[in-house]
Amino acid sequence: MEINRRNFVKKAAIAGLGTASISVGAMNTTVADEKQKKKPITSGSGRIRMGFIGVGNRGGGHVLTTLQIGKVDIVAICDVSERSIATAKKNIAKANAPEPKVYTGSDFAFMDMLEKENLDAVIIATPWEWHSRMAVAAMKAGAYTGIEVPACTTLDEAWDLVNTHEETGVELMFLENACYGRESLAILNMVRENLFGELLHCRCGYLHDLRGVKFNDGLEYNYKPGQPLKFGKDAYAEAQWRGLHSIRRNGDLYPTHGIGPIAMLLDIHNGNRFLSLSSFASKARGLGKYVEDHGGANHPLLKTKWNCGDIVTSTINCANGETVLVTHNCNSPRPKQSDWLVQGTKGLWAGDWKSIYIDEQSPVEHQWESQESYLTKYDHKIWRGTGDGTEDLTHGGTDYMELLDFYDSVINKKPAIHDVYDAAAWSAIAELSEMSIAKGNIPVDFPDFTRGKWIKYREDKLFAPDEKFPPFTERYLKF
Ligand SMILES: NC(=O)c1ccc[n+]([C@@H]2O[C@H](COP(=O)([O-])OP(=O)(O)OC[C@H]3O[C@@H](n4cnc5c(N)ncnc54)[C@H](O)[C@@H]3O)[C@@H](O)[C@H]2O)c1
Repeated sequence: MEINRRNFVKKAAIAGLGTASISVGAMNTTVADEKQKKKPITSGSGRIRMGFIGVGNRGGGHVLTTLQIGKVDIVAICDVSERSIATAKKNIAKANAPEPKVYTGSDFAFMDMLEKENLDAVIIATPWEWHSRMAVAAMKAGAYTGIEVPACTTLDEAWDLVNTHEETGVELMFLENACYGRESLAILNMVRENLFGELLHCRCGYLHDLRGVKFNDGLEYNYKPGQPLKFGKDAYAEAQWRGLHSIRRNGDLYPTHGIGPIAMLLDIHNGNRFLSLSSFASKARGLGKYVEDHGGANHPLLKTKWNCGDIVTSTINCANGETVLVTHNCNSPRPKQSDWLVQGTKGLWAGDWKSIYIDEQSPVEHQWESQESYLTKYDHKIWRGTGDGTEDLTHGGTDYMELLDFYDSVINKKPAIHDVYDAAAWSAIAELSEMSIAKGNIPVDFPDFTRGKWIKYREDKLFAPDEKFPPFTERYLKF
C-alpha cells in the first residue's frame, strides 16, 4: 500500500497541536458525550424503542427498511396524513410486527409522542420547514435523532440544532444517504490511498428533474400528463410543499446529496472546513413553463411568480485550499446526474463520465480510462459480499447501509458519523446561497458551527475505516 500522505500530514499536524491521542468523539463536546452515555436503552432488552415523525414517501421507506433490521421495535409513528399512516400501518402489519401507537390530528402531535413514549431514537422525514423544530424537540426528549435532508432551511435553525445537541448531550445523525453509496465509498478509499494526489477541486450537485414531483393530481406521486395539475394543499406528498420553496426562495435548496460525499473526501470537520461561498442563479423558467404546458389556459398557477433560479451554482472555498462547485438543477428536463468530479495533483475522477485519469499510470496519456476496474479494486468493505437482494432494497441498498449505521450508533451509543455539525454546515449552503444571490453574488462566510473543533482529527469520521469494518454479510447477521 502506498504511504498515505494525507493521513501522515494530518497526524503530524495533530501531534503539533499537542493532541496526539484524540479519542473517538473528541470533536463533540465531552459534556454532550457524558450526558448521552448516561441514558440507558429504555427497553432494557437491548432492543431500540423507535418512533417515526413523518411516514410519507421517505419516512414510509425508512419504516420498511427498519422492518428488515433486527433489534428495533417501531413503537410509535406520527403523521398528519391518514394516507401515510394507513400505508405505514399496513406495511408494519405485513411484517408481522406489533401495531405501533399512532400520533396524529395536529401539526404538533409529535410533541405528544416524544413526551409519552420514552423513545430511544426517532427518525424525522417531514417537509423541510419542520425538520429543525422536530429535531430540537426530539433531542430535548432524549431520543437519538435521525434527520432527513436537508436538516434545516436557515442558519438560525442550524444553530438551534447545534446548541440543542450541546445542551442536551443527545446525538443527531444526519441521514445523508448519498454518503453510503457504493461508488462514493470506493472513491473515498481511492482518496485515502492517495490515488489522485492532494485534492484541489471537486464538483458535485443535484441535477434531477423534479417538475413532476412538484405537481400531481392529488393521487399519484408523480404528475402524469393529462391529469389535473395540482399543487399545495390539494396535491399529494411533495407536491404539497416542495414547490412552495421555489416560490419563496432563490438558492441551492437541496445541496446535501452532492456536498455530503465530497465533504467526506475533503475531511470537512476533521481538519478542514468550509470558509465561504458565492452563488449564481439563472433565470427561473422551468416550473412556469410546466404549468403553461400542462395546466390548461386558466390554471391559477399561471399567475405565480417563481423565484428560484432553475440552475444555481455555488463555489465554496475550504480552509485547506480546495474549492468545490455545487450545482442545483431540479426544474429542467434532464436525466439525473450528480456532476461528480474530484481533481487532485495526480489525477481525477469524473463520475458522470464513469472515468478516471491518473498521471503516468493511465494507459494512454491525456485520455480517460473506465472507472470500472478501480471501483472493483477499491470497493468499500461495507459493500463487499453484498449482491444477494441488496440491489432490490431502496436506492440499491444505500438506505439499508445508512439505517444499519444509524441503529448501530443508537444501540452502541456511538457519536453520529455525520453529526450535528455536518448537518448544520452542509444544510447551511441553502441559506448562504440565498444570501449571496440576493446581495449580487458576493462571497458570504460560513459560520463555524463547530466553534473551532473542526481542526481536530477524529478517526471515526474517516467513515468506518476499511480495516476495522466488518463486511455487509457479517453486519447483517450480527445486528
Ligand atoms: N435521502 C433521500 O434520498 C430522500 C428521498 C426523498 C425525500 N427525502 C427527504 O425526506 C423528507 C420527506 O420527504 P418525502 O418525500 O417523504 O415527503 P412526503 O410529503 O411524501 O412525506 C412527508 C410526510 O410528513 C408528513 N407531515 C407533514 N407535516 C407534519 C407534521 N407537522 N407532523 C407529522 N407529519 C407531518 C406528511 O403528511 C407526509 O406524510 C424531506 O426532507 C425530503 O427532502 C430524502
